[in-house]
Parts: sequence; C-alpha cells; structure tokens
Amino acid sequence: MDHGIKTVAVIGSGQMGGGIAQVAAVSGFDTVVYDLSGDALKRCKGLHDKLLSRAVEKGRMSEDDVTAAQGRLTYADSMSAMDNADIVIEAVVEDLDVKKKIFSGLADKFTGNQILASNTSSISITALATSVGDAADRFIGMHFFNPVPVMKLVEVINGLATSEETTARTIALSDAMGKVAVPANDRAGFVSNRVLMPMINEAFYAWMEGVAEPEHIDEIMKLGMAHPMGPLRLADFIGLDTCVHIMDVLAEGLNNDRYRACPLLKQLVVAGRLGNKTGRGVFDYSK
Ligand code: 3HC
Repeated sequence: MDHGIKTVAVIGSGQMGGGIAQVAAVSGFDTVVYDLSGDALKRCKGLHDKLLSRAVEKGRMSEDDVTAAQGRLTYADSMSAMDNADIVIEAVVEDLDVKKKIFSGLADKFTGNQILASNTSSISITALATSVGDAADRFIGMHFFNPVPVMKLVEVINGLATSEETTARTIALSDAMGKVAVPANDRAGFVSNRVLMPMINEAFYAWMEGVAEPEHIDEIMKLGMAHPMGPLRLADFIGLDTCVHIMDVLAEGLNNDRYRACPLLKQLVVAGRLGNKTGRGVFDYSK
C-alpha cells in the first residue's frame, strides 16, 4: 500500500523524538520536530549533526546525502510549522493526561487523512484515541526503540477503532524508514515491554536477594543469552523511572501483583539514581 506521506511531524525532541526525526529525514521525508523548549530543540539539532557527521566518517552516508537530510529537517517551537504534516508522531513524556491534551489539539487541527501516532511504550492506544473523537480510526501506536537510528523494530499497535488503512499506511511508512514493523494488540505493555520489563525487574530481584553482583548478572545474560547489554545496564539506558512506570502499567493493566516493580528498583528511583540520564543508576556513569 502507498503510505501517501511526504511530511512527517514529530512532537518532542528528546532521545526518542529526535531519533525518529533523524531516521525520517535520512529516509527522504520532509521532517518537522516540534518542541516547546528551544533549548531541547538546540540539543536535538546538535545531536543530529554529530550523528550524521559520524555516518559520513564511517562511510555510511555521503556528505551530499547528509546535507540533503539536514535540509529536510525543521526544528520548530511553533505548532504552525506542522501544518503540512501527513503524519504526526507524538514522543513526549509517558503521561496519559499530557498525551491526551496534545492529541485533542491535533484532532482539531488535522481533519483530513493525516495519521495520528503515539510512540508510547505502554499507555493504551485505545485510551489515548478517546481524545481525538472521530479521528480514532486514524490513530495508531508506533513504538520505536532506543537508539532509534540503530534498532530495526517498530511495534505497530492498533487501538479498538484503528482502521485497516491506517495500519497498512503505518506499516508502509515504517518500511520506507528502513524499519521492520511488527503488529501487536493493545494490551498493557504490548509485546515488547510485557516481555522485556519483567526480565529487567527480575534482574533487580536477583541483585536485591544477593544472587549475584550487578555486573555478574549482566555478564551472565550477555554471554549466556547473547544480549547486547545486560538487563541492569539496559535498565539504566532506558531510565529506571521509566522501568518503574512501565511495571506499574503492567501491574494495573494485567491486574496481577507479579508485575509490581522490585523495591530496590523503586528505591534507586527515589534516590534520584535514574540511570544514564542522571549519571548514575545501577552503575556509575559520572566518569
Ligand atoms: N544513536 C545513534 N547511533 C548510535 C547510538 C545512538 N544513541 N548509540 C550507538 N549508536 C551506534 C554507534 O554509532 C555504532 O555504530 P557504528 O559502529 O557504525 O559507529 C553502533 O550503534 C554500535 O555502537 P557502539 O559500538 O558504541 O556500542 P555497542 O556495540 O555496545 O552498541 C547499542 C550500542 C546499539 C546501544 C547496543 O548495546 C544495543 O543494541 N543495546 C540494546 C539496546 C536495546 O535493547 N534497546 C531497546 C531498549 S527498550 C526501548 O527502547 C523501548 C522502551 O519502550 C523501553
């Protein structure tokens, strides 16, 4: 199916939003990154420029291709920059109310055939779609993985009202962005986090109960299971607060206490040790 998309708008210029925008621009789409914060947009552009020059150094892209991709990128702190978008991909903080507020504004603005997509890692797509009224058939989950330029997967999640056309266009777009789209239904954590997070949570229990030191837990999973990162290092990479949040969504959504976040994981979050982003989580990144 033809996705019919020329312009991609991304809301949120953090790690995920920035990564999605970079991949869209490199794949030939006119791309708008919208964020309220001018500083966040500056950081996002800086990271794009750094990663794209690295792609040239590594021989993965020519200088001309990088210049063309940079030319397709617009960094905007005004919503009007998104007027021509054929799809809006939201990648802001994992908060139902914040996301719903954004989407209700988008539904008023985009009344044509535009797709409204959320990069949520665990919030119900059907619940988010209630904020867009009649546009619920154009609403879908498009879950990318960090680091977006490297990870091949897009988990595509249909809400109750998502139309077949929206799903097909989203899969075609993912394909055009060089990703592999895999469908999942709208249940807490979808597939990715339903399987990944309990493993990470269990690694915290193993550490808490003294089964092994954190570096040994990670080494066992890296060398024994061929994981690129051990579960505790991966938790730091994702953000320990995000891990707790996703466990809470699983516990509530699946109504089962076995998904409760490990007390040690929660304690690190209370201490402000959130992982890479604060310089310390399970491991110390300050040096
Ligand atoms: N952005 C762009 N490219 C990046 C990157 C980033 N943030 N970080 C690493 N890369 C690239 C590097 O440039 C390098 O490419 P090159 O060899 O061509 O230069 C390549 O990735 C490998 O990087 P490194 O050699 O520095 O390091 P590693 O070989 O250890 O790979 C890794 C780093 C790709 C992050 C790897 O460790 C990995 O795959 N880890 C697991 C990541 C993972 O599981 N992600 C999913 C998280 S869950 C999620 O996002 C969902 C959410 O809902 C929780």
